[in-house]
Amino acid sequence: MWNVRLSSEEQNMLSGAEGRAVQRALEIVIALGKIYGAEDLVPIESAQVSGVSYKNLGDAGLEFLRQWAAEGAKVRVPTTLNPAGVDLNDWETLGFSGEFAEKQIAVVETFSAMGVQCTCTCTPYLVGNVPKPGAHLAWGESSAVCFANSVLGAHTNREGGPSALAAAIAGRTARYGYHLDEHRRADYIIEVGCKVESEADFGALGYLVGRVVGAGVPYIRGLMVPGLNSLADDPVRAIKTLVAGQENGLDRLMALGAALAASGAVALYYVEGITPKAQPEIVRSNARVVRVDSLADGYTALNGTCVQIDFVHIGCPHATLATLHRIANFLTGQRVRATLWVTTARAIKEEARRRGYVATIEEAGGKVVADTCPIVAPVTPLGFRSLATNSAKTAFYAPSQPGLNVRFGPLEQCIHAALTGQWRGN
Ligand code: F3S
Repeated sequence: MWNVRLSSEEQNMLSGAEGRAVQRALEIVIALGKIYGAEDLVPIESAQVSGVSYKNLGDAGLEFLRQWAAEGAKVRVPTTLNPAGVDLNDWETLGFSGEFAEKQIAVVETFSAMGVQCTCTCTPYLVGNVPKPGAHLAWGESSAVCFANSVLGAHTNREGGPSALAAAIAGRTARYGYHLDEHRRADYIIEVGCKVESEADFGALGYLVGRVVGAGVPYIRGLMVPGLNSLADDPVRAIKTLVAGQENGLDRLMALGAALAASGAVALYYVEGITPKAQPEIVRSNARVVRVDSLADGYTALNGTCVQIDFVHIGCPHATLATLHRIANFLTGQRVRATLWVTTARAIKEEARRRGYVATIEEAGGKVVADTCPIVAPVTPLGFRSLATNSAKTAFYAPSQPGLNVRFGPLEQCIHAALTGQWRGN
């Protein structure tokens, strides 16, 4: 049996001296450490808890959380929350059932009782949970994990919901996987030989690469990120620029990482010369070389055949202020025919409201939706038949919803679909 080395403080926690809630958290952390061969535990600076939607948790998940909270569970590090199954304020106007909303609100309140910040977003780095390079984390949203490891240079595995929460309560996680430098070396070189420009292009590239590398670490060459030269010096400053509402290429890396983590299980990637430590020394000597000379296969695989569009979704990962600004500009003085949701973090929505973007989008008939997204929300009862999106991640997962035909393309094409109810082009 593999043994994980524990400090005296950790032994104390495991003995139950700090209560059953902490003991239970450490048991989970240690169990994972044993499975993955961790030698010891590492303190974490923050956690991001996924698996929040009642659609996935059900009554059993809610009961599990309530029991942990009743035992006195409290997080020890700043902990943010992934999207829930509804917009916690506007669920009724969006058409969600009261019964579901009530359960979802109970889930979020239970997290809140444990000290979790109920941000309900997959972009915690846009609402104040911004790890420093080299920080150890326990994050459990695959797109955010990819962003934290690759763009911010932090260290996290792809945690599940319970394991991220356990790490937050214990204040540490098991040191294995991406917490170790040896596992952060690239095992694929991706030579990009085609133009990659829009956020949809970056998503299509991520989809294609994820399909090939699976859970590997790709080192991407030949990729220009419009508006971004190098993150290596100060990625945290680049985030601040993005949060302030200036487009700086990070939105494209958000799309790339989300797609890599969806079609594959990528948790870390490098873009040569741009992301932290993206220098040739990080590549293993036996790395496999893969060329991508066209994105066409990605667009084909992610596109259905429907022409009529009744639902358009932008904001996967949750939209930045810059994206909300672009959408408001497109929609000024116009009226949508299809249902349009732009999903974002509540704090971003409030800032967008102050800047007038929300009013413009709503005057055009669109909705700025906080706290949720169509993948974690129970949208089937809303009766949509076709969905247009600029997100490769949404285009990858949405077809699993019964009867939903999906179209995937750049933001402009999706807004055109929202305005006309038709998909233009192939
Ligand atoms: Fe976020 Fe939902 Fe996409 S959780 S990354 S908007 S599938």
